[in-house]
Amino acid sequence: MVGAATSRRSFLAGAAGLFATVTLPAASADNSKPARQITLTAGKGRASLVGKAHPATDVWCYDGAIPGPLIRARQGEPIRIVVENNLGEDTTVHWHGVRLPIAMDGVPGISQPPIAPGQRFTYEFTPPDAGTFWYHPHADNLQQLGRGMAGALIVDEPEPVAVDRDVLWMLTDWRLTAEAQIASGFGNVMDAAMSGRVGNTVTLNGVVPKEERVRAGERIRLRLVNSSLARIMALRFEDHRPLIMAIDGQPCDPHEPDRGRLLLGPAMRIDLLLDMQGKPGRRYRVIDDFYDGLAYWVTKLAYDDKPPLRAHSPDPPPALPRNPVPEPDVTMAQRHELRLQGGMMGGGGMMGMGGMSDMSHAAWAINGSSMTGDGHAGMAPLLTLQLGRSYVLTLRNDTAWWHPMHLHGHSFRVLSRNGRPVPHQQWADTVLVPPKQAFDIAFVADNPGDWMLHCHVTDHQVSGMMGVLRIA
Ligand code: C2O
Ligand code: CU
Repeated sequence: MVGAATSRRSFLAGAAGLFATVTLPAASADNSKPARQITLTAGKGRASLVGKAHPATDVWCYDGAIPGPLIRARQGEPIRIVVENNLGEDTTVHWHGVRLPIAMDGVPGISQPPIAPGQRFTYEFTPPDAGTFWYHPHADNLQQLGRGMAGALIVDEPEPVAVDRDVLWMLTDWRLTAEAQIASGFGNVMDAAMSGRVGNTVTLNGVVPKEERVRAGERIRLRLVNSSLARIMALRFEDHRPLIMAIDGQPCDPHEPDRGRLLLGPAMRIDLLLDMQGKPGRRYRVIDDFYDGLAYWVTKLAYDDKPPLRAHSPDPPPALPRNPVPEPDVTMAQRHELRLQGGMMGGGGMMGMGGMSDMSHAAWAINGSSMTGDGHAGMAPLLTLQLGRSYVLTLRNDTAWWHPMHLHGHSFRVLSRNGRPVPHQQWADTVLVPPKQAFDIAFVADNPGDWMLHCHVTDHQVSGMMGVLRIA
């Protein structure tokens, strides 16, 4: 796992030597700089993703590392992140899931000018919510995210949560060639109109995992992040009973996943409480069986031989402390429907562009409108919402494909699925909408600005399943 601020500072010094197109200020090498003020350098690098038997992979990354450095902040305390762009093309950083001011949201042309090569931009905000978040570019998304640019942002609760270990698993899917290089063909028509660029290699914290060392009896808070371009995961922990404590950073009623399967679409996060109730010396697989007939094991929980850390598992934990997300007034809320449209129909090979106009390069649309690429400042918003008012949006998927729909700048309650209340009505920032189904989400439009709403299957996003909600 990537270390916190201290270890990444030495990494930064190394990266500066490799990509010295911009001279770093002397302060960057100073270990005494407070962790809440950091520098993040976007650039190119090499990473050993698949192990020593294979060549290292050419990647695009932050601070020379895959994943990017883990940024650890504290709830309610300001952080300041200077992003340097050594990439050779425009970039930005989006702090996925953090309810921050629009000027810090990282959407080029809409919330800020892009960071040109050789330039820097300072992101400054105070995370209002504790939880598991992540960061990634919002420019040339397919390539920048698909070539490796992503990292986790963990915001700690003021009072530590009682666990033995706090562990992060960033799960990332890659499409690699036999030489362990990133395959070309980003944005091809097949990926764009179907499931997106699903790859062939899944890494955990930047390497193809073999096993994760655990000890019998310990209680782990396991933070799962799916930073893949397109791969949806459904994880099962063999002979274990994980408890879902938070979704997309927001605490929920602690509950076991439906049929023991944790659905984790691109950009989604789940915090688990995992009591290690296996036997010393044994191994248990973590299986992803989302795609029919393509189940594989992601990693194994490898118990060491030591006797259990404690005789009985500790009491069931209380829920994590709630974050200050405003509760929408569902009865008074204004309602809107957003229809997700387009894509190739399953098997038929026909573009099902119901309701779409003549946007030849757009494969997808929301209510007939397609914002493509990195987005455009001039386009009319999908909806204009009134500041302070509650809204219920129905996200109706008219397509044959799954869409993890993400709203910037807000957390919303997931109210119902196909008109029926969902069991926990959890807060989320990304909701995975299966084909031909509909979810109702509710939130207070309390954050002024032009906020992106898009599918986080990046191929879908950049080919039209994106729009803006204006809160004025
Ligand atoms: Cu994580 Cu607009 O995205
Ligand atoms: Cu999609």
